[in-house]
Amino acid sequence: MGSYFRGSFWLILLFILPFTCTLNCPSGCTCKLFIDCSGLHFKDVPRELPLNTTKLLLSHTNIRVLNEYSFSFLPQLTRFSLTDSPLNSIHPRAFQSAVDLMSIRLASTDISTLPARVFSPLPGLLQLILDDNQLETIAPDMFEGLFRLQQLILRQNLLKSLASDIFDGLTNLRSLDLGRNFIKKLPSTIFHSLTKLNQLSLDYNELEVLEPGIFDRLVALEDLRVNKNQISSLPPRLFWPLRNLKILFLSYNQLQTIPEESFYFMPVLQTLTLHKNPLLSLPDQLMGHMPYIGNFALYGTNLTTVPGNLFTNMSGLQILHLKFNDQLKELPSDLFCCLQNLQVLSLEANDLHHLHPHLFSNLSSLMKLYLQENKLKTLPEDIFLSNKGLQRVFLTNNSWDCNCSIRSLSKWIRENERVVPDSNNTLCRSPMHHVNRILGSLHDKEFFFCDATTPSYFRTTLKSQPLTSTARTTTSTAATTAASTTTSTATSTAASTTTSTAASTATSTATSTATSTATSTTTDRHIITTFTTATSTLPFSEEFPRSKKAFKTADVSPPFYDKMVFEKGSDFVHHNIHNSWVYVWSLPSDTVLAGILMFSHIILVATGVSLILAAMYGLYRLDNVVYELQAECAKTCG
Ligand SMILES: *[C@@H]1O[C@H](CO)[C@@H](O)[C@H](O)[C@H]1NC(C)=O
Ligand SMILES: *[C@@H]1O[C@H](CO)[C@@H](O)[C@H](O)[C@H]1NC(C)=O
Ligand SMILES: *[C@@H]1O[C@H](CO)[C@@H](O)[C@H](O)[C@H]1NC(C)=O
Ligand SMILES: *[C@@H]1O[C@H](CO)[C@@H](O)[C@H](O)[C@H]1NC(C)=O
Ligand SMILES: *[C@@H]1O[C@H](CO)[C@@H](O)[C@H](O)[C@H]1NC(C)=O
Ligand SMILES: *[C@@H]1O[C@H](CO)[C@@H](O)[C@H](O)[C@H]1NC(C)=O
Ligand SMILES: *[C@@H]1O[C@H](CO)[C@@H](O)[C@H](O)[C@H]1NC(C)=O
Repeated sequence: MGSYFRGSFWLILLFILPFTCTLNCPSGCTCKLFIDCSGLHFKDVPRELPLNTTKLLLSHTNIRVLNEYSFSFLPQLTRFSLTDSPLNSIHPRAFQSAVDLMSIRLASTDISTLPARVFSPLPGLLQLILDDNQLETIAPDMFEGLFRLQQLILRQNLLKSLASDIFDGLTNLRSLDLGRNFIKKLPSTIFHSLTKLNQLSLDYNELEVLEPGIFDRLVALEDLRVNKNQISSLPPRLFWPLRNLKILFLSYNQLQTIPEESFYFMPVLQTLTLHKNPLLSLPDQLMGHMPYIGNFALYGTNLTTVPGNLFTNMSGLQILHLKFNDQLKELPSDLFCCLQNLQVLSLEANDLHHLHPHLFSNLSSLMKLYLQENKLKTLPEDIFLSNKGLQRVFLTNNSWDCNCSIRSLSKWIRENERVVPDSNNTLCRSPMHHVNRILGSLHDKEFFFCDATTPSYFRTTLKSQPLTSTARTTTSTAATTAASTTTSTATSTAASTTTSTAASTATSTATSTATSTATSTTTDRHIITTFTTATSTLPFSEEFPRSKKAFKTADVSPPFYDKMVFEKGSDFVHHNIHNSWVYVWSLPSDTVLAGILMFSHIILVATGVSLILAAMYGLYRLDNVVYELQAECAKTCG
């Protein structure tokens, strides 16, 4: 009994031992759907794995060599990955015992050469990923026999060139990535076997040219990336065979121009990038019919303008980046004629000085418009009239010139405050007195002077009129001038006339000593006689509040021979006499108001004149009376 038990115990142990042994998951591994091991203590592919292991992933190991026997205990392996390891040597027959391998990834290792035809015993290989290694060359027959290979990734190695027949026979290849190498040139027939290729990446290389016909057989290609190279010219019709292309990246190259009709016959193109090329011009016929293109980026070029029909065939565009072209001065008026689906238009940081009034008039779906960082001085009235769905407009950092022509834009900003999120940073650059004012804060009232049919033009007549103490009428006129030039708070010509009339009345009713005082203070004064405009505008000079010190009238007034200098249309004018800025107060063009003011002016002038006459008459009568009294006195007293 006991011996039977002991016997069966050993028997059971004998059965269980190898079983538990094969199920044992090596330390440092997780054994689930696939076996995943990482750890520096792995110096070779672990031996203690189940024989039926199909998927093995090793990372951060200390494996330097894959030898002849590395896979001899893993006959069913279909997927093998070794990454982040100091691997630098592979035995030529390393994979011979794992003939079921369908996927190999050797990445982030130190491997610099591959033994001849090392993968050729693996006819079932579908995926070969060799990114981020130190591969410098690859033998022309390296991929021979891999008829079923679908994905080949050689990204981020040190490859400088490739043999023209290296991919021959890879007729099932769908995806080829040669990016981030140092390839300068590719033979024109290198891709000729790859008729099923879907995706080709040549980005981040040193390609200077693309040979004519290099893509001729890639009829299935949907995604082509040639960005970040040194390509300075393209052969004509290079992309014409690529009728299925959906993505084409050509950005970050050295293209100065692009051959005519280069992007014809791409009916399913969805994305095209040309940005960061020093493009100097684009041909008149460039884009073929490409209704599915949703996104187009053309920035960082040296273009000064673009052809008016550049986007005519890109009717599906939703996002267009035509920005950071620091020499782009002009946009043709019909450039956006046919982009009914465009939602985002960025024209940021170009060199645009003005925009055509109808530039945006067909952009019925436009939601966001970026116009900041240009040289715009103004925008045409109603430029956004047809952009009913506009949600955001960015206008900061332009050369906004806040003269009459900015009026409608300023009004539009005020009425659409929510659409201009940066309105408080949208500032005037000129004229001088408006510098750094917020565009939207310019009140409509400040533009009333613009309504003048003729631009505000001041007809000024300057007279030098020295005064004598003998001529009483002249004295009073002089006093008028004194009053008007020194009374900086006077609000209108009419008002000043009142003041002066009052002053003259005072003078005339005062004694002769008072009159002589008035005369002496006004001796050097000169008179501005007329101050009228062609229209009903009645300007008046007033001291400019910021420069009170410049307005020291009585003592230092220079002779009034100088001209007055007016800057047409501005509120503030430079005034040579005061050597400072003077505020010009203008009346609104409203004819009723102006009429009333003109009427009061005439009434006041008439009153003034009649008062002067009355005063003179009074003096005359007084004189007579004095004379009579003297005579009487002489008669009676004498
Ligand atoms: C490997 O074989 C064992 C039995 O020997 C089985 O339990 C296990 O599921 C198998 N693993 C795989 C991945 O087929
Ligand atoms: C638009 O595409 C059609 C056909 O693809 C072409 O004939 C036409 O010239 C293109 N227009 C422009 C402006 O390139
Ligand atoms: C393009 O413009 C940049 C400066 O914006 C200049 O350095 C470069 O030389 C220009 N390239 C060409 C081809 O004109
Ligand atoms: C707007 O589009 C229509 C038709 O798409 C076209 O006839 C018209 O000329 C375009 N207008 C402008 C200003 O480009
Ligand atoms: C106002 O500014 C616009 C844009 O800078 C300019 O074209 C126009 O000549 C200016 N008008 C006056 C009266 O200064
Ligand atoms: C405007 O330009 C200034 C100076 O170049 C820059 O600091 C600022 O960020 C710009 N503002 C915007 C909104 O782009
Ligand atoms: C601009 O500033 C004013 C006052 O500082 C503020 O009331 C207003 O909301 C600001 N506008 C925007 C669009 O931020």
